[in-house]
Amino acid sequence: MNNTDKLREAVREADIDALMITSPVNRLYATGFSSSAGVMLISPEKAWFFTDSRYIEAASLSVTGAEIAESGGENTYTKLVSEVCAEHGIRILGFEDGAVTYAEYAGWKEKLGARLELFPAQKLLQDARSVKSREELEKMVAAQRIAEKSFDEILPLAGAGITERELANELIIAFLRNGAEDKAFDPIVVSGERSSMPHGVPSDVPIGRGFLTMDFGVVKDGWRSDTTRTVCLGRATDEMKTVYNTVLEAQLRGIEAARAGVPGRDVHAAAAKVIEDAGFGKFFGHGFGHGLGLDVHETPSASPSYSGALPAGAVISAEPGIYLPGKFGVRIEDVIYITEDGSENITNLPKGLSEI
Ligand code: GLY
Ligand code: MN
Repeated sequence: MNNTDKLREAVREADIDALMITSPVNRLYATGFSSSAGVMLISPEKAWFFTDSRYIEAASLSVTGAEIAESGGENTYTKLVSEVCAEHGIRILGFEDGAVTYAEYAGWKEKLGARLELFPAQKLLQDARSVKSREELEKMVAAQRIAEKSFDEILPLAGAGITERELANELIIAFLRNGAEDKAFDPIVVSGERSSMPHGVPSDVPIGRGFLTMDFGVVKDGWRSDTTRTVCLGRATDEMKTVYNTVLEAQLRGIEAARAGVPGRDVHAAAAKVIEDAGFGKFFGHGFGHGLGLDVHETPSASPSYSGALPAGAVISAEPGIYLPGKFGVRIEDVIYITEDGSENITNLPKGLSEI
């Protein structure tokens, strides 16, 4: 079943007559086609894809399962949507309440008129995207492999006077050389005392001795990877070893707790307990993990505030950390695929303490 069909099923079961997709990422999800402009409509019976002259030829060649029409001139998106809705008796139109700005919402509401009711339907899309097919998982695994190969290639450069920013740039060049279409987010490269900043921005400071944390990911076929490794340049002190091994243990316990049906916050709690028991509770301020897919952060989540159950097929990160301000920090991040029995780890890089 392709994602247009999957969404059609979801629309059929929801309290809406059709779903209107306006964000690029959800259009990509629904069609596999990437465009900066367009509107998709999905009813239980049919789908429509409207886009402008810049994309119409490519869309006609690649979008299947939807009727395609060109927008532009008098054929505004609101006119095209209104016409389809009138013709097919669509009165309740689901929209992406999490992606549409207030101004856009007001514009749609005014132009579509009183006959059509706009109904918040973001959750329908989030739920659909939360469950990855095996084919989607394979694409995410391919993205992980590119990121890992790139990391292995550039790591030997650390410690030879290169700065954090230069190493981050080398990583991005390696991503592209190895077949990525983009970086999934700006790589985090922080070393020494700066490794205590969970999302520190790479600086012009040469990487010296101590911990080096690198958090990085690529985009491949639209799908994202996400990995963090912390390595030690030189010998680790006993305190550094204790912190590193506590984070690793926390990650393993969190992964062990993760399986379909378990609330995301329980997975977080299993990892957080290890860190708290070791006396570092107040130095772990973020969630254990987040959903990953076409976005780097998506549902479901394994954080303290997420009470929803993880579905089979979810892909989440497993990334506890301990950050000691002014000293150092450690984060270890893998990506796991949730199954009925547990999870499959799709990250291949070793994660024991590495002194290089
Ligand atoms: N690895 C980047 C993030 O999770 O925000
Ligand atoms: Mn992450």
